[in-house]
Amino acid sequence: MAPIQVKKVCCIGAGYVGGPTCAVIALKCPQIQVTIVDLNQARIDAWNSPDFELPIYEPGLADVVKATRGKNLFFSSDVDRGIQEADLIFVSVNTPTKKSGVGAGFGADLHYVESATRRIAAVASSSKIVVEKSTVPCRTAESMRTILEANCKPGCRFDILSNPEFLAEGTAISDLFNPDRVLIGSLQTQEGKDACAALASVYANWVPKERILTVGLWSSELSKLAANAMLAQRISSINALSAICEATGANIDEVAHAVGYDSRVGPKFLRASVGFGGSCFQKDILNLVYLSESLHLPEVAAYWRQVVELNEYQKRRFSKIVVDALFNTITGKHIAVLGFAFKADTGDTRESPAISLIRDFLAERAYITVYDPKVEEAQIWMDLSEACPHLTLDQIKRQVTIVHSALEACKSKEAIVIATEWKEFREIDWQTVYNNMTKPAFVFDGRLLVDADKLRRIGFKVKVIGRGEVL
Ligand code: UDX
Ligand code: ADP
Repeated sequence: MAPIQVKKVCCIGAGYVGGPTCAVIALKCPQIQVTIVDLNQARIDAWNSPDFELPIYEPGLADVVKATRGKNLFFSSDVDRGIQEADLIFVSVNTPTKKSGVGAGFGADLHYVESATRRIAAVASSSKIVVEKSTVPCRTAESMRTILEANCKPGCRFDILSNPEFLAEGTAISDLFNPDRVLIGSLQTQEGKDACAALASVYANWVPKERILTVGLWSSELSKLAANAMLAQRISSINALSAICEATGANIDEVAHAVGYDSRVGPKFLRASVGFGGSCFQKDILNLVYLSESLHLPEVAAYWRQVVELNEYQKRRFSKIVVDALFNTITGKHIAVLGFAFKADTGDTRESPAISLIRDFLAERAYITVYDPKVEEAQIWMDLSEACPHLTLDQIKRQVTIVHSALEACKSKEAIVIATEWKEFREIDWQTVYNNMTKPAFVFDGRLLVDADKLRRIGFKVKVIGRGEVL
């Protein structure tokens, strides 16, 4: 049978996942009309802004939107209309870790998924393929199916697919153009397989067929959690080794290089850092921990929990390195923090290690000046307020200043802490920075970014994560 033809796609959720993914679908499938809807009017207005000041920063994204917006890509806050018109709907809403109630701190807060699903059931007047795109705990598709079936109108059928997104922020567009794989999970019924073939035919417009993997629903849901958990586990493994390097005088770059040369291990995701951040790694591992516990698998839960605990340890450890080097106190000292995003090439700050570092420095009553090339000021204040609930925003603002260049941030400071690997930090005029700093001038590199020997020749005292040099 020829696959069902997808003509109109709707994406519920215009965030970091839904926005880029569906913009790329519009670009690669000019025959398909794509409408991205969101309840957040300000976000939709930004996606529609005449000068392409999009709500998220992602290299290459603006070009994709420029080429498609108003042709076959539309952004709208009319969620109901988007649902009614589409034959395939991506659900790409946020699924943060629960803050209260059962599973607080571990389980995913699924109320956004549930309300989007209920909306689909309430307004759809024809059959739809509903695709779970947000990262969700296993068996969410089953809950979505129950809600849809219990609420649908006569003659409407819903087929549920799981199609987890593997893009990484900062490289989202190239990841989407050239994905390692596209994973589609479906029920193994004829209808499920037909729906799966329909979505596969959308991706087949640009993804080679052998990279489109079709599996069962539960395998697909679990694979997303598993992939993120295993990537994060590599980082925690290398970060654990970075502590040994510092204590022994070994060099984590050399160790990672030597280990990664083994083709069974491979070189990627072995970069020691101040800790991983982002909206996925911690959340997905905590989901896995919660799932394991609810399946009465405490050893499995403990195993994965340790990946997150090591990450917390790494962040704390780095703060302590700074305090120890600055003669065991940073009270009243002035520190520049370069970078606030959780990684380079994004303005996203979710779970950014910079937040934990600044929280620790605030607790020591240091003065902090922050510079990040892409993060909005309002976002920094929001993140710091959330991280320091015992301080008012005014109290935070007495200790933290936000500036608009790295040179300005470093002026008259005693120490510089590199929290995000923005390329521009490698290329700062370090001699000028040094001339303008209080001496001794310290640089703490949490991202293996700078040329430490060059900085030392200038006169800096440099401490790099995973290197055993004594200051
Ligand atoms: C991740 C997954 O890579 C992606 O497949 C999934 O869809 C979403 O989660 P993302 O969080 O956007 O993507 O970025 P990623 O490049 O994976 O980095 C996550 C964190 O790990 C960042 O804080 C990054 O700085 C850190 N990291 C990454 C390291 O510390 N060392 C490394 O070697 C790689
Ligand atoms: P992600 O990183 O997973 O894309 P984001 O938080 O960036 O997550 O984006 C999720 C988007 O989903 C937000 O813009 C939010 O306003 C939107 N959203 C959440 N619930 C609904 C809903 N029921 N209907 C429409 N949009 C929603």
